[in-house]
This record gives sequence, C-alpha cells and structure tokens, in this order.
Amino acid sequence: MRFVVYCFSGTGNTRWACDRLAAELRLLGQTADVYAISSDCTPPPPNGYDGILLGYPVHAFNAPVPVLKFLKTLPPAQKLLPVWLVRTSGEPLKLNEASGITPKRILGGKGYPVRGEFHYVMPYNIIFRHPDGMAVRMKRDAERAFPQDARAIAAGEGSLCKNGPFRRMVSFTLRVEHTAMPLIGRRFKATEKCVGCGLCAKICPQGNIMMVDGKPKFGKNCAACMGCSFHCPKDAVRISLLNGWRVNGEYSFEGEPAADADVIRYCRKSYLRYFREMEGK
Ligand SMILES: Cc1cc2nc3c(=O)[nH]c(=O)nc-3n(C[C@H](O)[C@H](O)[C@H](O)COP(=O)(O)O)c2cc1C
Ligand code: SF4
Ligand code: SF4
Repeated sequence: MRFVVYCFSGTGNTRWACDRLAAELRLLGQTADVYAISSDCTPPPPNGYDGILLGYPVHAFNAPVPVLKFLKTLPPAQKLLPVWLVRTSGEPLKLNEASGITPKRILGGKGYPVRGEFHYVMPYNIIFRHPDGMAVRMKRDAERAFPQDARAIAAGEGSLCKNGPFRRMVSFTLRVEHTAMPLIGRRFKATEKCVGCGLCAKICPQGNIMMVDGKPKFGKNCAACMGCSFHCPKDAVRISLLNGWRVNGEYSFEGEPAADADVIRYCRKSYLRYFREMEGK
C-alpha cells in the first residue's frame, strides 16, 4: 500500500514521529512519502495513495491553523482513502484528544474517513522545559509504540477517540488562540543577542519572518509553532505576551529515562498513567 504523510511541525517533535512511523511502514513493505505542511511547499494531493497520515502538534487543545487550512485545500476524495491522525503534545491529558474534532469534521466532509488516532507525548516547546529524563522517557516510549502502530496502519486498523460535550466546549473556547496568535506574533522581537544568522526566517513554516538589515522582522501570519524561539542559537527571540513560557534549545535525549519517582509534579498522575499505558504495549 502507498501512504502519504502530511505533517505540520514547529519544533520537530511531530516530524520525528511521522518520519519514524513512515520508516516502520517501509519496513513492512509499504510506501510512505512524508511532506511538510508549510508555506514554501505544496504537498501533492492524495490521489494515487491508499491511505493518509496527518501529523500535527496539539495547540491549545486544537489542531494548528495551517493544518486546518491545508485540509480545506484537499480535493474531495475520489475513492475510499482512510486517514490516521498522528498527534504530539506536551501534556498527557486526554483533553488533547479534542484536537481531532475539527480535522475529523473537515476530512469527513470531503469523504476521507478517519480510521485511527495516535498520540505521542513529547517534550514541551512552550510553557516550561521538561527535565531531560522526562524527555528521554517520552521519546523511548514513543519509539516502542511505532512498530505496533505502523502494523495497525498497514492492516487498515485503528481506534477513534470519543469527544463529549465538555471536550468540545473547551476546544471550541480555546480556538480563540487562532485569532489571537497572529496578533501576538506580530509583536515577537529579536533582542541584541541576535547575530543575524537567518535561521529563524529559514525554518518558519509560515514564511512569517523576513530578514531586514540583518535582523528578523515578524509578520502577521504567525501560527505559534515556536520554531523561531525554540531553535534560535542565541535565545534571542522574545515572544511577546508568551515570553514567560518561552522554551529555547534542543532537548538532548541522552541519558537515563526518568524513573517514576522523578516524574514532575505538574500533571504527575497523567504522565504516570501515560507512561504505564505506553510501556504496557
Ligand atoms: C501554541 C502552543 C500551544 C500548545 N498547546 C498544547 C496543548 O493544548 N496541550 C499540550 O499537551 N501541549 C500543547 N503544546 C505543546 C506541543 O503540542 C508539543 O510540544 C508538541 O510536541 C510540539 O510539536 P512540534 O515540535 O512538532 O511542533 C502547545 C504548544 C504550542 C506552541
Ligand atoms: S535565529 Fe536567532 S540569532 Fe539567528 S537571526 Fe533569528 S533571532 Fe537572530
Ligand atoms: S514566527 Fe516563529 S512562532 Fe510564528 S510561525 Fe514563524 S517560526 Fe512559528
């Protein structure tokens, strides 16, 4: 079978998960082509494929705006093309499953049935920096799940998350982020620490950063992916109202995974439940 993988990723977590699932599918003898959802490339339509994987990070219990916009550009399905959602998030809250509501609605309306949803908890790119041991355990647990998840996809299987009225209400309310973010993003700034390397402009998936006189200038299409502030080698990007939540610098993923006793206090029970579920797979 031939799978097309459409992936939006601000700081690399979702891209990593999609690449790993694609690699596992190839090991099973399937074809899997991965395309980024970004302003500087238009992924091909899914005609000619037998299934679709849609990768995105959870943003305020929703799918990011560029993902929803991309889904709206998909042509109506010409044959039965099942879809698997591939999500990453920083918290292990079940509420994150609400981020599948709108993608499922748009895809269903175009004749693409969502067959399964996969969710991997990965280190935060905003709010706070996860301790290294937590990051290592998240990555290790996702790694363990990929072969089994790829087998389910190759077999055309999967399960869907159920979202009741509470989740729908929270997800709908927090969609305010979609209108707020372009406004907040216009006020992003680079400090004097900026060395004008241009990396932020190069990686912005929205093409929202222009280098002007050797410094980044932020436009009005920010999708809050945090790529610029996370990857800046000088930690020079200030993210306006969200600055207190800024996370800068790659996670190392080296070292020992956090033991249960070292799991952070914030959402501790949910992290422990998630780790146990993943490790029992
Ligand atoms: C604007 C924004 C909103 C986010 N909202 C949530 C959220 O509602 N729940 C959650 O668990 N993680 C949230 N996160 C964390 C990301 O989903 C998580 O770090 C993800 O793995 C990032 O994936 P990426 O590297 O592919 O961009 C948010 C991140 C950003 C930047
Ligand atoms: S990545 Fe950082 S240092 Fe490089 S241009 Fe952007 S803000 Fe400046
Ligand atoms: S300006 Fe920064 S946060 Fe906004 S879309 Fe571009 S890289 Fe992402």
